[in-house]
Parts: sequence; structure tokens; C-alpha cells
Amino acid sequence: MPSYVVAGASRGIGLEFVAQLATKGNQVFALARNPDKSKGLQELKSRPGVTLIQADITDPVALRAAAEQVSKATGGTLDVLINNGAYISKKHEFVQIDEFPSDQELIDDFKLSFETNVIGPVLTINAFLPLLRKGQVKKVLTLSTGVADAPTVLASEYAYSPAYCVSKTGLEMVSVKYAIKYKTEGFVFLTISPGVVATAEEPPSPEKLARLQEMFAGIVKVAPHFKGPIQPSESVELMLGVLDRTTVEQSGAFLSHFGNRQWV
Ligand SMILES: NC(=O)c1ccc[n+]([C@@H]2O[C@H](COP(=O)([O-])OP(=O)(O)OC[C@H]3O[C@@H](n4cnc5c(N)ncnc54)[C@H](OP(=O)(O)O)[C@@H]3O)[C@@H](O)[C@H]2O)c1
Repeated sequence: MPSYVVAGASRGIGLEFVAQLATKGNQVFALARNPDKSKGLQELKSRPGVTLIQADITDPVALRAAAEQVSKATGGTLDVLINNGAYISKKHEFVQIDEFPSDQELIDDFKLSFETNVIGPVLTINAFLPLLRKGQVKKVLTLSTGVADAPTVLASEYAYSPAYCVSKTGLEMVSVKYAIKYKTEGFVFLTISPGVVATAEEPPSPEKLARLQEMFAGIVKVAPHFKGPIQPSESVELMLGVLDRTTVEQSGAFLSHFGNRQWV
């Protein structure tokens, strides 16, 4: 039974990874900052093969303890790591790069975005690498976004979420660095965009709805077929298919949920 760690699994796409992987009979370790407070994880924890582990992806001590716990359960191995967790500021999601209310808010947003979206996956990979090296599958999937692809952002004129976009752009290079180092060991490091996925837990405010509509109009400029967000179930099923098909020759690639560079 292949083993998976899903880091940042409390809700949305991460939670859906846990659900689908458990349904397929895998051993799934769901890492979350507060598993006890996640309604979705509490519903999944009684499924066969599912283990909940408390870990913040920015905390190397907690991540090493999580790896130790996984190691005890699997006999020292791990097949696949999925880096799902990410930070996007609710307050600054629709702020442009020179329009932060203050320098301090800009600095805080960029720092937390980099810490969570770039350093978090690096710390998580480093904590689980010893286990992954002993695993059979040796795959690491890291979630980025189509708005980390500079030509697409330029063409769609998406000016918002600067800290999120810049940090996610850096994430592609994270996988590249690991891909270079671990290619000869048969590893696959894949950065993936899930598409535009409906994960919001509350309906948008009228102001946010207007911004989202603006964003969707920008997407239509580069992808006229775009009809709106897809469900987490569809996105995760497609991403797991891409992960299965990706070979060591493609390690370091940044692909969409379709397995190419078509982001929606
Ligand atoms: N939804 C989309 O349309 C979309 C599009 C492109 C890319 N993505 C990417 O896909 C991934 C999942 O997106 P989503 O929409 O499901 O996100 P989401 O609903 O905002 O959930 C984010 C997840 O990350 C976790 N997280 C944040 N900081 C963490 C930390 N320091 N330690 C551990 N976990 C942490 C959150 O846990 P808490 O509950 O503890 O906050 C939550 O489980 C993200 O990487 C996102 O950037 C999503």
C-alpha cells in the first residue's frame, strides 16, 4: 500500500487529496496546523489508512517530529509527498504591488508569503527526504498556480496578489533545485497548478465578487473557453493522474492539472 504525506491538509484541495488517496486504499498522513479544528479531517480520520498529524509547515521541529511519526508507522519509508499548504492574505488578495496601505503591511505580506509558500515546502521536503529516499515511488508534488507563470500573468493582466504570485513563482525553482540533485536517484519533483478551484468556505463579499469577475475576465483573454472554477474533486483527480504519468525525465517541470502548460 503506497504511503502519502499531504502537508497542509485541513481544508480545500489538501483535504480532497486525503479523501481521494484514502478511497484508493493508500496509507495517508494528513499534516495540518490544527487537525482537531478541521471538520473535514475529523470526518476522515476514521477511514482506513488515514493518520492525522499536527504540523505547521514553517516549523522545522514539528516537521521532523511528523517525519519521525510517519517513519514509525511505515518502517522508515515514504512513497509520495504532496506540498499543498499555502498562504494568501485575505486583506491583500486584491491589492496591487504599489497600493499596500503601508510599507509594514507590504513587508509583512511578502515575508509571510515567502515563509509559508517557499520556505515551508523546502522544510517539508527536507524533513521527509530521508524517508522518501527509502520509498519505492520517490515523488514530490508541490502546488503552485497558473498566476505564477509570468507570460500568463502578463497576457491576462492579473495585477493583484503580488506577494502570493511572487512567492509561488519562486516555488517552481525549489522543485528544479531538488530535481537536479536527486535525478540520479530516480526522484520526480513536480510543481503543479490545480486550475481555478472552488475552495472558498464562505460566499464572496460583493466587493470580492467584483474583483473575482475582473480576474475571470482576464483569464478569458488568454483562455476563451474558461467557464469558471472547477470542484476540488475534479482538480485532484486530474493532478493525481498527472503525478502518476510523470517520469523522472520530466523531474523539475511545472505543469497544469492537464499535464501541460494550459492553466485552465
Ligand atoms: N483554489 C484555487 O483556485 C487555487 C488555484 C491555484 C493554486 N492553488 C494552490 O493549491 C493549494 C491549495 O489551495 P486551496 O484553495 O485549497 O487553499 P485554502 O483553501 O486556502 O487552504 C490552504 C491550506 O493551507 C494550509 N496552511 C496554510 N498555512 C499553513 C502552515 N503554515 N502550515 C500548515 N498548513 C498551512 C491551511 O491550513 P489552515 O486551515 O491551518 O489555515 C489550509 O489547509 C495552495 O497551494 C494554493 O496556492 C489553489
